[in-house]
Amino acid sequence: MPSYLQTAKTDQIDRRLQTPQIVEVAAQLTRHILGAVPDRLTHSQAVAARAKFFTLTVAPEDADLLVAAAWLHDIGYAPELRDTGFHPLDGARHLHNIGWPPAICNLVAHHSGARYVAQALNLDRELYAYPFSASAVSDALTLADQTTGLHGEPVTVDERMRDMLKRHGPHSANARAHPQRERYIRAAASRVANRLDSCGVDRAHQYIISTG
Ligand SMILES: [Fe+2]
Repeated sequence: MPSYLQTAKTDQIDRRLQTPQIVEVAAQLTRHILGAVPDRLTHSQAVAARAKFFTLTVAPEDADLLVAAAWLHDIGYAPELRDTGFHPLDGARHLHNIGWPPAICNLVAHHSGARYVAQALNLDRELYAYPFSASAVSDALTLADQTTGLHGEPVTVDERMRDMLKRHGPHSANARAHPQRERYIRAAASRVANRLDSCGVDRAHQYIISTG
């Protein structure tokens, strides 16, 4: 049984997760929630596409979990979901409130090293209502996000981090969290690269996840 099923709360959720439709349900929900924020929707769709490629690096039974979480990871940017203003937390809370299983909520809460930014924002206690698990799935989700630009274009980890620092500014929580967060993202990228190696994916096809 996939690990995320063991923590599912209700029969209803169990039934949903046992069907391949979880990815389609996640895609539909994201399209609905981010309909008013088209750039975020384009980005999310592209992150889901890259996550699909990275399913090579996770256990087969976790593939749908990864792609569903990739679709949903940025829904916290929707204006109507805004509560704390920290999108990983607002997104995870919304998913929890409408009955999505903990495995999805936790991945959304912690995508791309959100825990380091939460600390800089003094929101770490709130964020840890959703525990972080270091896993091949959390690595793949983070790298899918960090190799996809804001308009869905492919970018390297270096380009993505440079753009993020420019957008948020030198005094932002993102900038304060950057030293630790960057270490985590680069380490996740190199773990995913090693897993792709083990699957026989040529390094020539991995330029996008190069970490410089
Ligand atoms: Fe994202």
